[in-house]
Amino acid sequence: MLSGQHIGTMSMLKAVIVGVGPDRGLGAQLCKRFAREGLDIIVSGRTQASLDAVVADIERAGGKASSFVADATDEADIVALFDNAGAGVDLAIYNAGNNTAGDILEMDAGYFENSWRVVCFGGFLFGREALRRMVPGKRGTILFTGASASLRGRAGYGAFNSAKAGLRTLAQAMAKEYGPAGIHVGHVVVDGAVDGDKIHSRFPDAGSHRERLLDIEGIVECYAFLYRQHRRAWSFEVDVRTSMETW
Ligand SMILES: NC(=O)c1ccc[n+]([C@@H]2O[C@H](COP(=O)([O-])OP(=O)(O)OC[C@H]3O[C@@H](n4cnc5c(N)ncnc54)[C@H](OP(=O)(O)O)[C@@H]3O)[C@@H](O)[C@H]2O)c1
Repeated sequence: MLSGQHIGTMSMLKAVIVGVGPDRGLGAQLCKRFAREGLDIIVSGRTQASLDAVVADIERAGGKASSFVADATDEADIVALFDNAGAGVDLAIYNAGNNTAGDILEMDAGYFENSWRVVCFGGFLFGREALRRMVPGKRGTILFTGASASLRGRAGYGAFNSAKAGLRTLAQAMAKEYGPAGIHVGHVVVDGAVDGDKIHSRFPDAGSHRERLLDIEGIVECYAFLYRQHRRAWSFEVDVRTSMETW
């Protein structure tokens, strides 16, 4: 079993991962990595077909997984996601939050609010439901996906930057509030573009600049690192970027 705090546990521990899309995306690769580490994965996102593909790959590789369609911004969906997962959730990862670009002068109020709902508010719902299940057992790990936006505002990205910064400080508050209760809350700052489907479908020539794109397996390793940390040596945050990134 992966985590030092879990050695000796007999039943299969579970991971709930929300924000899962295409195979070459962070969400799908997080599911596959933690399945290889021996967790039973509840694969969640809005598109059944994408979730089914990830579950099928995990099962083919000998792992255990199931899908659950949920919109991260819908409170009833997130409550149902955790109710359906049942007992034994040891890891919960909030990965939803696509980039929302746009200049402030031209921005609709609804666009700004929707960005905040997916990136930040959904993180609150997800974190709260995970905590409600983990705190009684005094153990569990909750991880949030951040971006360059988590740490700085940038022209043209006000909606996304403010929402990711909100998610980061929410995660930090959660870490301080529930660390003493035995819950490890962590945040991964993905500082740059990911070498995955999102970038390659938007920028067809991205493959010729691979040295500037973050390696997905390398990012996933950060989540595994946070999950396996000893409970008397916890990190809140890991930041990752390529060697070419200006920061
Ligand atoms: N890609 C990058 O270059 C990059 C860079 C820095 C940080 N990040 C962060 O990495 C995370 C995403 O990783 P990724 O870009 O590799 O994408 P991904 O994990 O492949 O996909 C994330 C998936 O989340 C799902 N999703 C979106 N809104 C949702 C909602 N309201 N409820 C449930 N699921 C939802 C979407 O699938 P459905 O539409 O099928 O639901 C989407 O495909 C985000 O937190 C993002 O901010 C990405």
